[in-house]
Amino acid sequence: MTSTTTDHLAAARALDATDPLAAFRTRFAGIDDGSSDIVAYLDGNSLGRPTRASLDRIGRFLVEGWGGRLIRGWDEEWMELPFTIGDALGANVLGAAPGQTFVGDSTTVTLYKLARAAADARPGRSEIVLDTDNFPTDRYVLDGIARERGLTLRWIEADTSAGVTPEQVEAVVGPQTALVVLSHVAYRSGYLADVPAITRIAHASGALVLWDLCHSAGSVPVDLDAWGVDLAAGCTYKYLNGGPGSPAFGYVRAGLQNTLAQPIQGWMGADDVFAMGPEYRPAAGIRRFISGTPPIVGMLAMQDTIAMIAECGMPAVRAKSVALTEFAITVAEDLLSPFGLTLASPRESERRGGHVTLNHPAMRQVTAALWQRDVIPDYRDPNGLRLGLSPLSTSFEETYRGVAAVRDALDELP
Ligand SMILES: Cc1ncc(COP(=O)(O)O)c(C=O)c1O
Repeated sequence: MTSTTTDHLAAARALDATDPLAAFRTRFAGIDDGSSDIVAYLDGNSLGRPTRASLDRIGRFLVEGWGGRLIRGWDEEWMELPFTIGDALGANVLGAAPGQTFVGDSTTVTLYKLARAAADARPGRSEIVLDTDNFPTDRYVLDGIARERGLTLRWIEADTSAGVTPEQVEAVVGPQTALVVLSHVAYRSGYLADVPAITRIAHASGALVLWDLCHSAGSVPVDLDAWGVDLAAGCTYKYLNGGPGSPAFGYVRAGLQNTLAQPIQGWMGADDVFAMGPEYRPAAGIRRFISGTPPIVGMLAMQDTIAMIAECGMPAVRAKSVALTEFAITVAEDLLSPFGLTLASPRESERRGGHVTLNHPAMRQVTAALWQRDVIPDYRDPNGLRLGLSPLSTSFEETYRGVAAVRDALDELP
């Protein structure tokens, strides 16, 4: 028996009423404050919403920090900000002890710096393992590094509705593998990779591992130190609400840091920044992974989301994320299956991250029609509509309204 839309709306309202994180939603700008016409924002895995705390923080920074402290701000706070925010991220989001996380460049540049340093740290090994469905920037960066260093890319064929399994990694790694680079949560399907198992397999062959955490940081618990991860990088403008173009974070395991030489040798990563000596000598520790002047303005907003996560804890964030994706799938299967839609994300919640992908040949058109109606999911080729559900800011009712709007748009197709 199928449920009615009224049943789903009532279920959504009941879930919102008992949601322990419901109050966090009121801390975001543009929600229930009359400033926005958005009916359902389901793209928090591309660009998270701003928090009200960030509106204040950025305003205060312009007047008091930049305007008031001027150049003194560098000595007083900003020089250390890539590492103080990195440590806060490490403690509350990444499971990383202090001194291993930095914030600075884009995800693309951070991936490049870490992957090239890692490939160089395994001389005599000729291959980088990656998968066919990783985000384009990861594949392009590794292709460039392979050309620069005369290495071979060893591809794992990934299922676009699932992701890379430990067995697939086991089948390709060996004494020739320098580095394995994979995503924790697959950007297309939302598949959640088994990081500890894959990391162990890579290590058993003597390779280093670099994880892309763009779609997991702030939505799925991450335990980098306990999992024995070597290197990681991830976005801050998705579930961490850092704002458009906010800089990425990078993680380098403590024991590895001083053995790595990153390729963009800038003055800010030198051992004595203001000595301005004739040649580059890398700083000891995590500072060596910084290159030039860090983008301080871009680092402001993410601090407010890190503080919210510190307040509620990643297990609560994950519990809400699982509940949201479960609910989205239940409603989608009920309302959308008559249109021949298929679920292109794992059905089991233990293998699913914070977004759900629904496949249908008309999804490109449907997404465009929804944007016209202030319902905002996103679209990824070949046929996928992605529902990115942000645990701190998305409500169950918003999720229901989004899925119901997909049904209406499909119904109206010529
Ligand atoms: C898995 C993954 N890696 C990397 C990136 C982006 O890199 P950048 O922040 O340099 O644009 C994205 C962006 O959506 C992503 O989803």
